[in-house]
Amino acid sequence: MINARIVATGSYLPGEPVSNDDLVARGVDTSDAWITERTGIRFRHLTPASQSASDLALNASLAALEAGGLRPADVDLVIVATSTPDYIFPSTAALLQAKLGIANGSAAFDVQAVCSGFIYGLTIAEKFIRSGSHKRALVVGAEVFSRILDWTDRGTCVLFGDGAGAVVLEASDTPGILASALHADGSYHGILSVAGGIASGQVTGDPFLRMDGQAVFKFAVKVLGEVANEVLDAAKLQIADLDWLIPHQANARILQATAKRLGVSPDKVIMTVDRHGNTSAASIPLALDLAVRDGRVQRGQRVILEGVGGGFTWGAVLLQF
Ligand code: ACO
Repeated sequence: MINARIVATGSYLPGEPVSNDDLVARGVDTSDAWITERTGIRFRHLTPASQSASDLALNASLAALEAGGLRPADVDLVIVATSTPDYIFPSTAALLQAKLGIANGSAAFDVQAVCSGFIYGLTIAEKFIRSGSHKRALVVGAEVFSRILDWTDRGTCVLFGDGAGAVVLEASDTPGILASALHADGSYHGILSVAGGIASGQVTGDPFLRMDGQAVFKFAVKVLGEVANEVLDAAKLQIADLDWLIPHQANARILQATAKRLGVSPDKVIMTVDRHGNTSAASIPLALDLAVRDGRVQRGQRVILEGVGGGFTWGAVLLQF
């Protein structure tokens, strides 16, 4: 059987870190104490006007390719998970393919599953590789959520940040992805959305992110616990067999509650939300890359990546790194 294995990771954060006090200085009616206590977030990165999601994706992709000793032309599938694409179309993946200089006819497409987008993209890539149709996929999460935030809504604007993370997934004889699971329940679409539409070339309705924070909190903790157990069961493994849990970085309290529910020790949970805020589809590959580069995640270790986001969507990938 063909395995699909992550052979390299990369990430990119635009600009300088923006602290909670910087947001106060910019006029947001909040405080460092409130944001830190309720969310654990201390910094986020915000994209300058000169950059868009495909630029962030390009930088993260080049970092991943360099880490793997690969050239862009070695990739035969490009998947970008984003809810903040450069354009309605063409896809950010197509733009990324062109920016990488590999506009050579290989497949490129976007995945839209909000904060679960990277897990959806990685699982799709896994299935392409296992089928034998493709050999090496670049899977990217890239977001410029700062562009869809209402900066007068302190209940949401303090939570999010921009960034991109990328992995190269390759056909391999060595075990890589051991199990994966994807889910959605569209009846929860109202608790987290950007409900604006497009008509006659204009955005109609509300173009900004709106959220019922407490409903999202409860839903996220429940499904992150369930889906982690689901992939462990599928691989016939237990929590004790796990080296690292890398959940979507929504806020520190969601991560802590998820770890507690699963019985995972806090020192096995990779946490980056304090430095990055919630970067939606970028948060999981950003956290993975950071933990790989600082030496915590090592070859052969078992890792769960898991996400939850608007839709609602959720999913997990259990892998041997
Ligand atoms: N600064 C200061 N005060 C604030 C802020 C802020 N940034 N935001 C809200 N408040 C105030 C409110 O106005 C309210 O004041 P009041 O009591 O005078 O009316 C008070 O704080 C409490 O507001 P709540 O919204 O009830 O605060 P809550 O304790 O629910 O915390 C939070 C809000 C942090 C958003 C919480 O609900 C949460 O963590 N939810 C999870 C949502 C999340 O992480 N979403 C990320 C996107 S979804 C995803 O990625 C899956």
